[in-house]
Amino acid sequence: MCGIVGYVGHRDALDVVLHGLGRLEYRGYDSAGVAVLTSAGTLAVTRKAGALANLIAELDGTGRAALRGTAGMGHTRWATHGAPTDRNAHPHRDATGRLAVVHNGIIENHAQLRAELEREGVELTSDTDTETAAHLLAAAYASCGDLPLAVRTVCRRLHGAFTLVVTHADEPDLIVAARRSSPLVVGVGSGEHFVASDVAAFIEHTRDAVELGQDQVVTITRDGYRITDFHGAPASGKPFHVDWDLSAAEKGGHDYFMLKEIQEQPSAIANTLRGHFIDGRIVLDEQRMDIQELRDIDKVFVVACGTAYHSGMVAKYAIEHWCRLPVEVELASEFRYRDPVLDRSTLVVAISQSGETMDTLEAVRHAKDQKARVLAICNTNGAQIPRESDAVLYTHAGPEIGVAATKTFLAQIVANFLVGLAVAQARGTKYSDEVAREFAELEAMPAAVTQVLSTVDQVRELGRELADAKVVLFLGRHVGFPVALEGALKLKELAYMHAEGFAAGELKHGPIALLEPGLPVVVIMPSPKGRAVLHAKLLSNIQEIRARGARTIVIAEEGDETVRPYASHLLEVPAVPTLLQPLVSTVPLQVLAAEIARQRGYDVDRPRNLAKSVTVE
Ligand code: M6R
Repeated sequence: MCGIVGYVGHRDALDVVLHGLGRLEYRGYDSAGVAVLTSAGTLAVTRKAGALANLIAELDGTGRAALRGTAGMGHTRWATHGAPTDRNAHPHRDATGRLAVVHNGIIENHAQLRAELEREGVELTSDTDTETAAHLLAAAYASCGDLPLAVRTVCRRLHGAFTLVVTHADEPDLIVAARRSSPLVVGVGSGEHFVASDVAAFIEHTRDAVELGQDQVVTITRDGYRITDFHGAPASGKPFHVDWDLSAAEKGGHDYFMLKEIQEQPSAIANTLRGHFIDGRIVLDEQRMDIQELRDIDKVFVVACGTAYHSGMVAKYAIEHWCRLPVEVELASEFRYRDPVLDRSTLVVAISQSGETMDTLEAVRHAKDQKARVLAICNTNGAQIPRESDAVLYTHAGPEIGVAATKTFLAQIVANFLVGLAVAQARGTKYSDEVAREFAELEAMPAAVTQVLSTVDQVRELGRELADAKVVLFLGRHVGFPVALEGALKLKELAYMHAEGFAAGELKHGPIALLEPGLPVVVIMPSPKGRAVLHAKLLSNIQEIRARGARTIVIAEEGDETVRPYASHLLEVPAVPTLLQPLVSTVPLQVLAAEIARQRGYDVDRPRNLAKSVTVE
């Protein structure tokens, strides 16, 4: 959470930084701010509460002339410490106004540092943890006159997870940045260098990037960059080339990124599958554990948050079925503070789009402390969670800018299946021709999802009808249960509507009391040709709902005539194997939530109070 960008080069820094912030706004939009080292030798700062548009309006109003220079930085905030106001907006400055810092993360010992600063007579002007760093940095710089050294000195005093970017008016040609457990990449251009939370901030200028390691400091100038650890020893990052182009980070004619990302789901699935079935075997992207370790697994935990957790719930059905292993799916934030029984023969699958979700990262560390093997499923190359894992499978969904996860959910489900097949293959619980058949079924999914996408107009019409609903319930069984949870989550986060997902069998154990005439209930029907017993049970649930006058919105396999008479509204999806049904039945729910949000006048890409990467616990 929080997006940061820094620039030193030959262009107008304000322009570069504002464009970069525009691409990082998915990380937070509580406030935005910029600092530019001006040609007059001053540090000019402007910051404003609210979205980036507010900052731009402010700059347009006051004129940008005071912020002309070729080095600068910016920040877009997801508030943790201090309300989303102008005074809490970054950059934060020291008392002289010559040093500025932007920060992503939480400085956990800020209260102690604040007390210490106040005892020394420093007057703090914001409620943030970040401002303490500004004052400490200024004091360190005053005593050594070396900005990288000052940053290293202060970083050693900070606890928690943080990325900092620091400028000083006395050092007009350089910017210093540091990271601990929060993302930071360097963009390597020609006569210009960048630092940012994400390559999206500088992709229009360069695709050559360097991922910083844990506890590293980087100094960028026009001509180069230099990395050290927090003690000043030379260090190196991990260079990489960004293989997606700028259009992937643009809306491509859609009103919202999320709508584009929903449309990109067939290619997200195809790209996630590509290159993972070679010579009749499933292969992962990175494997720092040997095949015997995979063979010896006797238990699986899946840990994740939010939508990724729902994808993990789907994984449970597949891994148990294919591998004959016990699988527990846990919210990472709960797993991390329990005493789960883990050992060397436990496989922990950590699923995270961003690869930087703090709850999931801490769950990974908790698992590793107990010697479990960790396999990460991640959409962000080189992020912290894959770096700390024993094996990695990337979802190649491309950048997801909309805060609500869509294409990465489908890609995660596919990646989960690949992991299940890889383990089944290693343990010998599936013959190679069976693995090949399952893989071929996965390869047919992009076409099936494309077919669902051809029905979005019908779903949008339903969205218009439901725009004024107060409550929507979602029911499913088996793999339809996590789909119900995901449908409810999408509606909550996008349309701010009270929505709940239930296992359909639980209806009679309590939620049935919520039913009243007209209440919309979305039912995810299993295939009548798959597990007939599940289909029959859900048909009974639909009768129970109708008997109470509630409205049934049914997602069912095309040609399932048995359900038609009982559906107030029927949305058909193509027939696919049972385990793969979430890949088709989730899509209408994403479209439905987006349309209801639009009808209610909400920003689909930037739901209130949320951020794309949740780097705090
Ligand atoms: O980056 P991650 O996959 O670890 O993020 C996990 C959740 O924060 C995320 O899925 C969140 O629930 C989304 N807003 C859902 O749309």
